[in-house]
Amino acid sequence: MFFRIFAADYEKSRNEKSRNMENPFKFGTIVEAEYFTDRIEEVAYIRHFVESANHLILISPRRFGKSSVVAKALNNSGRKSITVNLQQVTSVADLSAKLLREFFKVHPFEHIRHLISHFRIIPALTTNPITGLMDVSFQPGVDASILLEDVMALIENAHSQQDRIIIVFDEFQEILDLAPRLDKKLRAIMQKQEHINYILLGSQESMMTDIFEKKKSPFYHFGEMMRLGKLPREDFHRYLSERLKTRFADNNDDLADRILDYTGCHPYYSQQLAANVWNISVLQPEKEDALEAAIDHIVISHGLDYERLWMNFNRTNKWILQSLAKNRMLQTGEYPTSTIYSALKRLQKDGYVIYSDHYEIEDPFFKEWVLRGM
Ligand SMILES: Nc1ncnc2c1ncn2[C@@H]1O[C@H](COP(=O)(O)OP(=O)(O)OP(=O)(O)O)[C@@H](O)[C@H]1O
Ligand SMILES: [Mg+2]
Repeated sequence: MFFRIFAADYEKSRNEKSRNMENPFKFGTIVEAEYFTDRIEEVAYIRHFVESANHLILISPRRFGKSSVVAKALNNSGRKSITVNLQQVTSVADLSAKLLREFFKVHPFEHIRHLISHFRIIPALTTNPITGLMDVSFQPGVDASILLEDVMALIENAHSQQDRIIIVFDEFQEILDLAPRLDKKLRAIMQKQEHINYILLGSQESMMTDIFEKKKSPFYHFGEMMRLGKLPREDFHRYLSERLKTRFADNNDDLADRILDYTGCHPYYSQQLAANVWNISVLQPEKEDALEAAIDHIVISHGLDYERLWMNFNRTNKWILQSLAKNRMLQTGEYPTSTIYSALKRLQKDGYVIYSDHYEIEDPFFKEWVLRGM
């Protein structure tokens, strides 16, 4: 009896301990459930689209939470969905194969075998013994447009007005680089579909707006456009503060404030910094200022990448990045305004700089690295 009580107590304290040790912050992947905060209006808005017959275009800079917010809206929506990241696609044949592979995840092969028989080019299908998922490949050299048409027709035909499927294309702007006139081809296919809704995500603002706002683009006014901003400070503060409390009972509020000041409420970098603050408190409890130590750790551990990046910037870009890091004016006469403007646009396109109401370096730790080297 005594032993049983002791064992229960021991187990309880062990659980509590591991709960205290487990890092409550997550970054780098789609976040769900307890790692996801706010975005209530955005989730409701996307849900509304998911329930309608319309298409949605969602734009934000990298790592603002597009994939997470869409995953949340789709979960429990009762609608089937498939996602393909165009950044990971290498050709039209590969796009067709990936679409089909994703399709098999939501439709057992036996149910759609009869539809595959309509394919003009029959794919090779094998079950991957490790994942249990279906691997799809097409013979090289076949007409890729036919593959894409057939796969799209299959997805359309397996659904109905009452049971529409959602296709999410992530990094949709890549469509322009994948193959010549693929945008036109895809749009022509989509035009005839009635059982598919599209959610098109992109992180390259200027390319995405060109695709959907330029009159001569095949995707001109294809759907409703939505932009995702940073997380609202108050909610994010509460989220961080509540979690930090287990290890920083006295200064959790203050720490959450300092994290958000440092990252400007950027979803990914805030979670990254909070996770590192947590790690410092567990692994190096002797550190007086966990936040300073966490920043130091991140900047130093990325030092090599930052150095490589830096070496590839030209002189104008280096000067602009240093000026942004220091909050210095850019129009000082050092460079013509047009040069600064086009360099900024390029830096923004490549994701190093973001613009909300002013230009800033996207990665606060890279900014820190630049400052330290000045
Ligand atoms: N609602 C949220 N609550 C808390 N953290 C979030 C939220 N949304 C995003 N994050 C943080 O940002 C990170 C990036 O999220 P996500 O991958 O969804 O962004 P993304 O815009 O799809 O990024 P990418 O440009 O890399 O595709 C997450 O791993 C998480 O740390
Ligand atoms: Mg994403």
